[in-house]
Amino acid sequence: MAGHDRHNFAFDFELVVKYKVLINERVVMKMKVLFIGDIVGSIGRDAVEKYLPRLKKKYNTDVVIANGENAAAGRGITRNIYNDLLQMGVDVITMGNHTWDNKDIFDFIDDADYLIRPANFSSDAPGKGMVQISKNGVTLSVINLHGRVFLPPHEDPFAMAEKLIEEAHKTSPLVFVDFHAEATSEKIALGWHLDGKASAVVGTHTHVQTADARIYPNGTAYITDVGMTGPYDEILGMTKESVIYKFQTNMPSRFEVPKKGRDVLSGFFVDIDDKTGKARHCERVYINEDYPFQA
Ligand SMILES: [Fe+2]
Ligand SMILES: [Fe+2]
Repeated sequence: MAGHDRHNFAFDFELVVKYKVLINERVVMKMKVLFIGDIVGSIGRDAVEKYLPRLKKKYNTDVVIANGENAAAGRGITRNIYNDLLQMGVDVITMGNHTWDNKDIFDFIDDADYLIRPANFSSDAPGKGMVQISKNGVTLSVINLHGRVFLPPHEDPFAMAEKLIEEAHKTSPLVFVDFHAEATSEKIALGWHLDGKASAVVGTHTHVQTADARIYPNGTAYITDVGMTGPYDEILGMTKESVIYKFQTNMPSRFEVPKKGRDVLSGFFVDIDDKTGKARHCERVYINEDYPFQA
């Protein structure tokens, strides 16, 4: 009898091991994405370095995307900063209206595999507007688009989104869109337009996080603006004195990004079903001294 019991135990144990392997295989097939809003200057870059390891652990992320259009002292990005951000654990960098502010970009954009700029820029623009990244056997397409309301005119972002998503879906249903735009209405419109087509549509550019993170009925995670990662006690990342002076006098004022001060990290997390490409869960990420990191 005792021998029989031992046999049953061994049999059950084997089953449990097999089941665990299956569960683990399933768990590996996931796509958890953290998006970090516009990184502004050295304070923003330092905030990414400080918080990203903890955020990756907390959210068990597979892919980290960051908007880097203000990473070089508020204006564009350099090759060194691009490389530094990848070293810190960022997988894909998106851009915006400040894409060309730092001329260094013209020297490296064609070699920067994981840097994308708005896809609806002129066809003369160097670089690309979509990139695909694979982690643990799951492929995610990341698309960058630029708004046309209160910003310089570009090609139709709605048509470009549809075209690129159709292309992306040939490889994988998982698509993440960074829509760099000023008007809340334009961003909400693109979010609804892409509901069920993109896994996530996030807005960037205003540097102020909105409280409307949600999943639309057909499975698209959405937020109107992710917010900014940089100086916490200034105005959209620029020294407040220079901005206040500009509003008071309407005289020329050079906006500078401070090098010292408290930081804020603004982000958006989305858990995407690796089979359907639909979002399962999303939430805002907002860290500073008033809202400290919580494990
Ligand atoms: Fe920005
Ligand atoms: Fe911008």
